[in-house]
Amino acid sequence: MKLSVIGTGYVGLVTGTCFSDLGNDVTCIDVNQAKVDGLKKGIIPIYEPGLSELVLRNYEEGRLKFTTKASEAVPEADVVYIAVGTPQSDTGAADLSAVWKVVEDIAPHLKEDALVVVKSTVPVGTNAKVFSQLKELTGRECNVASNPEFLKEGSAIDDFMYPDRVVCGVRNKKSEDMLRQLHAPLLRTAKPILFMSPESSELTKYAANAMLATKISFINEIANLSEKVGADINDVRVGMGHDQRIGFQFLFPGLGYGGSCFPKDVRALTSLSETLDLEPRIMRAVDDVNVHQRASLVRKIDAYYGGKIAGKTFGIWGLAFKPKTDDIREAPALDLLQYLVEKEAKILVHDPEAMENVQAMFGDKIHKYCENVMDAVEGVDCLAINTEWNEYRTPDFAQLKTKMKEKVIFDGRNLFDLEDMEKTGFSYFSIGRRS
Ligand code: UGA
Repeated sequence: MKLSVIGTGYVGLVTGTCFSDLGNDVTCIDVNQAKVDGLKKGIIPIYEPGLSELVLRNYEEGRLKFTTKASEAVPEADVVYIAVGTPQSDTGAADLSAVWKVVEDIAPHLKEDALVVVKSTVPVGTNAKVFSQLKELTGRECNVASNPEFLKEGSAIDDFMYPDRVVCGVRNKKSEDMLRQLHAPLLRTAKPILFMSPESSELTKYAANAMLATKISFINEIANLSEKVGADINDVRVGMGHDQRIGFQFLFPGLGYGGSCFPKDVRALTSLSETLDLEPRIMRAVDDVNVHQRASLVRKIDAYYGGKIAGKTFGIWGLAFKPKTDDIREAPALDLLQYLVEKEAKILVHDPEAMENVQAMFGDKIHKYCENVMDAVEGVDCLAINTEWNEYRTPDFAQLKTKMKEKVIFDGRNLFDLEDMEKTGFSYFSIGRRS
């Protein structure tokens, strides 16, 4: 099939690239000329394992093209994906201005029987508005479907290629048939493609993210209780997870959820409910717990030093909101850095991918951006860990001891075994466990 994918952010670029890898003829369209020029050389503006190679291979083999002009590709497209960003606005609701701009741009070029698919995460009812807006602009009833994306940053290609399910919101059999045909190669392992109304499909996306965010806030609340009552959240988590109705996934306590999706989607769902005169009590609590949790290390550090931070040297491991990404949007590390900067601490940081993004934000307020993990603990009063990158999981503690001035570790991701830490002689503070 011939596809146009509008927007080359995480979702658009992964969608376009993967569909081209499956043999479709795909053109990715983005307003940013520099980005488009870079993509043609396999330069992708984000870090996502495997994506650059896949972009380059499919571009060189002619299945994947890039342009800034809708007019170059949309007139030929059987399917047009809208995959632009829907950031949080000041009110907490999703800002849909990019979506409406795309609708205007594509309307004059759409083939009579083209299928327009909204991939962006959009509030319930948006699909219906896209349908009526296109009707107004084209004078006909276009095929418009909803097909939310469930991929995770850091494992985006695998998540796209091996989905647990594909959710589609459709209005007619023709749209259903086209989406079934397009996704057939992804469903070889008997995973389902589910058809429902566009409204149900849009709500499924928000509800899935909000449910996962709820699990995280729940376990974090239990972790904080564990610390107070002398329980170990890791034992509690495992004890709970063996109940098949609960399961193990998304029950890791830590510094709360960050990134571009959960925080924004929980707030968008809250905002939607409020505009409909509902009381989104659970959603509000999930967000509230998360905002509090993100500052866990700040509270622990502040309590340990009695607020006397000035002049102390802090080694920071991990800046990205999670491993395998350079994304620092809503990353808990930012809260800690902000606090340490305000308190006039000396800061050394390490992250395998996210340092450039942090440098753009904090510049020389951070004393040293270290390429080597161990350089970030040289002479420090303590080490604070924000992200569970694999390279932090089994450090050489003997070397750490010789490098660090004081043997103190604040671990926001529970990377180390408590008994091991007692043996090494570090003062060790983690989440939901004794210290
Ligand atoms: C999330 C969803 O997992 C995807 O299914 C969805 O498609 C995506 O949002 C989206 O809407 O675009 P993502 O934000 O990339 O994906 O990352 P996750 O792996 O879900 O992690 C989100 C946050 O939750 C991270 O800050 C992570 O550290 C935190 N987390 C995750 C925990 O604190 N505990 C856990 O047990 C799991």
